[in-house]
Amino acid sequence: MISRNKSEQLFEKAKKLFPGGVNSPVRAFKSVDGAPLFISKGDGCHIWDEDGNKFVDFCCSWGPLILGHNATPVRESITEALQNGTSFGAPTVLENELGQLIIDNNPFVDKIRFVSSGTEAVMSGIRLARGYTNKNKVIKFEGCYHGHVDSMLVKAGSGLVTFGTSSSAGVPESFSQETIVLPLNDEAAVLDCIAEHGHDIACIIIEPIPANNGLLLQKKTYLEFLRKVCTENNILLFFDEVISGFRVAFAGAAEMYGIKPDIVTYGKIIGGGLPVGAYGASDELMACISPMGDVYQAGTLSGNPVAMSAGIAQISACLEDGFYADQEARTQFFVDRINTYANEKGYAFEMVTIGSIFWLTFGEHDAIRKADEINADSMVDFKRMYAELLDSGIYIGPSGYEVGFISKAHTTEVLAEVSDRFCAVLDRLFQ
Ligand SMILES: Cc1ncc(COP(=O)(O)O)c(C=O)c1O
Repeated sequence: MISRNKSEQLFEKAKKLFPGGVNSPVRAFKSVDGAPLFISKGDGCHIWDEDGNKFVDFCCSWGPLILGHNATPVRESITEALQNGTSFGAPTVLENELGQLIIDNNPFVDKIRFVSSGTEAVMSGIRLARGYTNKNKVIKFEGCYHGHVDSMLVKAGSGLVTFGTSSSAGVPESFSQETIVLPLNDEAAVLDCIAEHGHDIACIIIEPIPANNGLLLQKKTYLEFLRKVCTENNILLFFDEVISGFRVAFAGAAEMYGIKPDIVTYGKIIGGGLPVGAYGASDELMACISPMGDVYQAGTLSGNPVAMSAGIAQISACLEDGFYADQEARTQFFVDRINTYANEKGYAFEMVTIGSIFWLTFGEHDAIRKADEINADSMVDFKRMYAELLDSGIYIGPSGYEVGFISKAHTTEVLAEVSDRFCAVLDRLFQ
């Protein structure tokens, strides 16, 4: 067992300072055993904790670090930007540069607006949808996460209740009445809902690659169906690409599937590890945003120059020839080695993957496309596996509902070696 003495002490101290000892809940290791690891540094595909343990990191800060930790171009770009100060609250050339890089290489947005997190991007995008359509209601899907926006902290109502109920204390039921929660991969549910409420639905929001509650890969035909019903019913199609944007392709799932959303949100990778989010749409829609239009949205640190410089360096690297093909090939190599091994041994374990994202699944199952198709008991297996993975020097997000990420710094050599370690963990769990 690895020593976690220092992490444990730091966590005790943190509990006196922050609710549950953390500044974002999933970090608290509540789904797995022990104190969260306090990380002291990262380099390439590795991180080290305060006890000096070294791990191959597949969490990658929950997705942003597609080049790995401490990537040279990002570090150098930040260092250069820092020489000129950290924030002005006035436009800078760096915002233009990052904006141009995105718009030149993304056929789905004419204009974007930078904000400081994925949550803020979604909140603003929903306001835009409502402001543009003059309609109130939003359809979201069970199993998709869109940040901690009040109206998105809603789960399906029970039985025949169409409207959602709040999934967090502090969100008035009246807010959740404006959100309709439907199951994924269910065309009839969408059609029925539109038949009843279509006149007041501003947008359908979806993670086109749902990756916050397992990896609930949707069929392309289902996403095309959503595009079609939205167009036919004057509803905006909103792709939340905070994870998938710049991850599965430069222009995200929209590019991968060839489907144009009306509004799209980005986060994570766009900021190179610093806090940046963005929402984008056509010129016509974006003309509604203040100061051009009457949908208000603002931010003291929006377009922060240091954050912009990190984003410029990171997404420039993503634009290099073959970047995404290479990411996917290395991920496939890693996943294939583990899945083949598990299959040969008859272990009830499989990694599901798309692009450079993977998810660990346990037990026998068909393709899992809906939140309620995940076997909750499999989380017990995950918890056991998690302890073994940590002991083997492998770090992933501390919850079986979270996905793992592969960065450019995860070379084929590293992945070959780590997959052997992973298979040894499978032996210990299943034999
Ligand atoms: C799809 C999606 N949307 C929105 C968010 C919220 O982003 P942030 O945590 O930057 O507020 C997340 C965060 O994981 C996300 O995965």
